[in-house]
This record gives sequence, structure tokens and C-alpha cells, in this order.
Amino acid sequence: MSVQQCELVEFPKIEDQRGNLTFIESGRHIPFEIRRVYYIYDVPGWANRGAHGHAALRQILIAINGSFTVHLDDARDQRVEHLCAPNVGLYLPPMIWRDITDFSEGAVCMVLASDFYDEKDYFRNYAKFRKAVESEKDQW
Ligand code: TYD
Repeated sequence: MSVQQCELVEFPKIEDQRGNLTFIESGRHIPFEIRRVYYIYDVPGWANRGAHGHAALRQILIAINGSFTVHLDDARDQRVEHLCAPNVGLYLPPMIWRDITDFSEGAVCMVLASDFYDEKDYFRNYAKFRKAVESEKDQW
């Protein structure tokens, strides 16, 4: 996997004098069926989140309120995306290390995930993540 495969996805936005409406349809606007939704909120200004990679999980990150910065790393290249719109998601395939920083006041990071929570799918150690990427490459 490469950071180039992390795609920004724009969801429909229905604008109205009464306010805007965005909808996301599983398997249509995002390339997987949603099995889990979670959100990170009330993040203090000094705190970072993420700091992990996933072996198989696919996710979409959305700044449903406020903004934050996502640092992506595929063990070779890095990329940075700033999310700040509730109708834009960042698709993360497996084997991408992510750090989430610079949460604005009141920011909410909503995550749509392709599977249930499973701690066994996590890489929480960057050196181990890198090693796993290297050993995948050896199998090519
Ligand atoms: P953690 O992975 O540290 O959050 P983040 O990486 O997004 O900053 O998760 C914090 C805790 O919440 C950890 O004990 C695992 C637990 N958790 C669940 O129980 N279910 C979930 O769906 C998620 C994402 C985390």
C-alpha cells in the first residue's frame, strides 16, 4: 500500500437556506461496507491521536466538526492532509500508519470502518509496522 492510495472523497452536499445536508451510502460513496462507526472528540489542544496502522481494516476519516491534520506514512513515503469539511472524507487502505494532530477546539473526527474493533488488527509500534511492510515487500 502507498500513501498515494489514501484518497480524499467528496460526499454529496445538499445546500439549503435551512442548512446543509450530507449523506454517505455504504458501498456507494465509500469502497467498503460500513461495520463500525466511532468518533473522537473533546480532544485537548496538546493531544495527538492515531499513532497506529492496521493490517486489514479500511477506514474513512471525516472532520464532522472543526479540523485536524492527518499524517500518513506507508513506511517509505509520507503525506499530510488537513481535514476541515464535513462533506470530505479521507480513505485509508490497510497498512498505512497515521498520526492525527492539531485538533481545533470542538473538533470531531468521525471514522467509518470496514470491520468491528479488533486489537489484533493493530500495529501500535512503528518499528514493527515497518518490519511488516518490509516482509510484505519480500514476498512480491
Ligand atoms: P485508540 O486506538 O488509542 O484511539 P485512537 O488511535 O483513535 O487515538 O483507542 C482508545 C481505546 O479505545 C483503546 O483502549 C481501544 C478502544 N477502542 C474500542 O474499544 N473500540 C473501538 O472501536 C476503538 C476505535 C477503540
